[in-house]
Amino acid sequence: MKRLDYVFLRVVRWSSWPLLLLVILFLITGYIMSGRFGMSRFMDEKTALTIHKLMHLPLLVLLVAHVVPAVYLAFQRWGWIKRRNHPHATTKVISNSP
Ligand code: HEM
Repeated sequence: MKRLDYVFLRVVRWSSWPLLLLVILFLITGYIMSGRFGMSRFMDEKTALTIHKLMHLPLLVLLVAHVVPAVYLAFQRWGWIKRRNHPHATTKVISNSP
């Protein structure tokens, strides 16, 4: 695997966990604001709205960081993007560790 692909794969994996946390927080603050599932007993609507609004930019940034390299690697795998052979490219064995 080329160094660029390796870096992209790490970005996909590292961005995914804060992204997952943000999506969960988005849902929770949304339910608190709408008073669904009795969630409003955990936090008042105003605070939930403030937190909800603060998370838009980080969510967008993490979603782009997670999805763009994932799509690039998928297109390469499908042969839609040609693999560039770099003369100095090192072949590196990738372990399954994140
Ligand atoms: C908000 C939505 C998403 C969340 C919370 C999310 C979360 C995750 C998590 C937790 C992983 C496992 C990472 C690891 O193994 O360390 C993962 C892997 C992955 N995600 Fe997502 N994901 C989201 C959306 C997407 C989308 C839209 C795509 C595709 C375009 C995508 C493509 C991938 C791929 C390709 C992997 C596997 C990476 C690998 O080979 O290890 N994800 N995602």
